[in-house]
Amino acid sequence: MKATAIAPSNIAFVKFMGKKDESLRLPTNDSLSMCLSDALTTTTVEFSEKLPEDDIDGTFSESEKKRILQHIDRIRKHAGMTLHVRVATRNTFPKSAGIASSASGFAALTVAASHAAGLSLQEQELTVLARLGSGSAARSIPEGFVLWKTGETTEKSFAYSLYPPSYWDIRDIVVVVSKKEKPIATSDAHRAVRTSPFFPTRLAGMKKTLENIQKALEKKDFDAFGLLAEQEALNMHAVMLTAMPPVCYMLPDTIALLTHVWRWRKTGLPVYATLDAGPTVHLLCQAKDEKDVALRVRSLGIGNDILINKPGSGTRLSQEHLF
Ligand code: PMV
Repeated sequence: MKATAIAPSNIAFVKFMGKKDESLRLPTNDSLSMCLSDALTTTTVEFSEKLPEDDIDGTFSESEKKRILQHIDRIRKHAGMTLHVRVATRNTFPKSAGIASSASGFAALTVAASHAAGLSLQEQELTVLARLGSGSAARSIPEGFVLWKTGETTEKSFAYSLYPPSYWDIRDIVVVVSKKEKPIATSDAHRAVRTSPFFPTRLAGMKKTLENIQKALEKKDFDAFGLLAEQEALNMHAVMLTAMPPVCYMLPDTIALLTHVWRWRKTGLPVYATLDAGPTVHLLCQAKDEKDVALRVRSLGIGNDILINKPGSGTRLSQEHLF
């Protein structure tokens, strides 16, 4: 009753921001993302009658441990068992890097725990289960470029792959602007954005945004794709800023980097930016421009670290257990 899974984090081009049902984590809109090749979480889960109590290894706060155990309870209930659990987890990227560790974390936990519990779930069911742990984790189960449907019921809010990782050789160059813990949790942002006077306008435009991004993806039109992804991220930050209370994740270096990106574009370099709920900037470019973009970022002296990602695989089982 032991299993290990490796899961990627993902970057959304059409963002999940705002929930229509908080406890079921049903998003107000569909979202579209790419799995990241080099931002991975490995998790080993074991259920055993020999364990005297539940044991969660790793650098988690008490509230994070509670959330992990709630998810384990969902899986125990599903499998109809009550055995204690041991969980160990490792990330290939720093937790405070502004990469969604909850997406890769809950995707790896879902796949490892459901296998260890003897459940044999289809990919679609795994995305639904992962979503209950952390919304964006649903998009870390399928491979490559992934769409997550909002859905009216829990079963209907699932994610699936639109294209495999090999479909398009693009890059997400992650620039870690600050390693400090962010001041506002993403779950508070999901709640706050609904108070922005611009939120209804954002929602009204989401269908068109998704349609346009899907079209650019289908045509592999990088400039249209990058521009739409950048506008979508800024749109999300605009509703965050105009929420009550305001939610501001950008730092001075975030803005500085954005202005450099806009300047580089004017000089003919096709690079675009997207941001999640944090100050970290994700630079989108084509494989041919990877070195140039990375060199330019390094020469600015902005950011502590840069992490280069390609489109990645989805969550998979591994035989290399952590214990
Ligand atoms: O899955 P959550 O609750 O951590 O929310 C993710 C929110 C964003 O990263 C800002 C957008 C997204 O779709 O990944």
